[in-house]
Amino acid sequence: MNFNPAKINRVLSELPTHIVVIGFCVLWLLPAIGLLVASFRPFQVIDDSGWWTVLAPPKGATEYQSSCASCHGKDGRAIAAADLTDPAVVKQYPRSLQLMAMLRTDVNGRPHTGDIPVPKVRAAAAIATYLKRISNIENPPRFTISNYQDALVGYRGKRTYTEDCAAGTQPLDLHCNTGDLLNPRGMGRAFLNTLGVTIPATILPLLLAAFAAYAFSWLHFRGRMALFALLVGLQVVPLQMTLVPISRLYAQLGLNGTFLGVWLFHTGFGLPYAIYLMRNFLGSLPTEVFESAYLDGASHWTVFYRLALPLSLPALASLAIFQFLWVWNDLLVALVFLGGKNPVLTYQISNMVTSLGAGWHLLTAAAFISMLLPMLIFLGLQRFFVRGLLAGSVKG
Ligand code: HEC
Repeated sequence: MNFNPAKINRVLSELPTHIVVIGFCVLWLLPAIGLLVASFRPFQVIDDSGWWTVLAPPKGATEYQSSCASCHGKDGRAIAAADLTDPAVVKQYPRSLQLMAMLRTDVNGRPHTGDIPVPKVRAAAAIATYLKRISNIENPPRFTISNYQDALVGYRGKRTYTEDCAAGTQPLDLHCNTGDLLNPRGMGRAFLNTLGVTIPATILPLLLAAFAAYAFSWLHFRGRMALFALLVGLQVVPLQMTLVPISRLYAQLGLNGTFLGVWLFHTGFGLPYAIYLMRNFLGSLPTEVFESAYLDGASHWTVFYRLALPLSLPALASLAIFQFLWVWNDLLVALVFLGGKNPVLTYQISNMVTSLGAGWHLLTAAAFISMLLPMLIFLGLQRFFVRGLLAGSVKG
């Protein structure tokens, strides 16, 4: 080992920063991992045990071992006359009530559980669940993908989509084939709708902003600064203020409930900031490069296409990320202009929250489905994201 005091000093002085950074990572990762784990747990267990218990023994196992295992054995098969792995025996005691009544009756003139006290309601309920598990009446797997299936096809019922389909008791709007992925109530269809809204609503404002920013930087027309000042001012117009006039306009044009209407709306509200940021970025590029291009006889189109666009790629990328995330997570605009006609992810999720208060196992999966693409984009374009946060605040 090679001791280098300067090195040790440096490591020690960086330690607090590292601890803080790791702390933030954990703070962010822990709920995300919890949500992910919960989304893979079957609905039978998700309500009464936290995601961190996934690897713990199943519910009721400890209560069973302490009150019943001494006679019935660890696996429940020790007494041949009362095999607790036999569904026919266990079916008679579906809940704590029946189980406790039976445990209070004497066996051969002696208390059933002998010297061990009869378990209290809570423990008895846990034991009843455990008995159902070992007798295979209800033996949910530790992990399942059924939450994702159910959320994607928009299944709403007491069991799972696969179980209902196997029994032929699926809801009327489902057909148990891949066509169910396009069920209007499902997240699968909503995912496609969201993509259909988000991609044009990201590309359109970016393209227009790039053109406009170029014009503001390199075309010398009258009233340029006044127009730019107006654009900067437009950034403060609250979106809600325009909902009524625009929805009336859309009603006249027949754009309500169409993707085109939403694209135009997001484009309109994305443009002021996009133009502002792009212009500032283009304006900070070295003037000489552009001027020498003009001197060489390059047209505006060539300069835009060959110089301005490639040079402003970092700004375009960070704008793209922000606009994409904004539109992807938007509920208000999608709700007002698309509504239930072409439901997007946020709309479906808000529907689930209100109508499935008790069925939140679907919500965990739905949340992850809607997080997936933004997370991939964020991880893939992280470099640009950080630059985007700093855009305009530092030069060079
Ligand atoms: C002191 C020993 C003892 C303990 C402790 C005990 N049992 Fe039993 N249990 C028996 C015996 C013996 C029988 C068989 C009775 C018979 O022959 O009908 C039995 C029968 C049963 C049966 C079958 C009843 C039927 O309808 O046939 C169930 C269910 C059962 N026990 C559940 C439990 C549970 C749950 C616990 C723990 C809370 C428990 N027992 C604790 C001795 C015990």
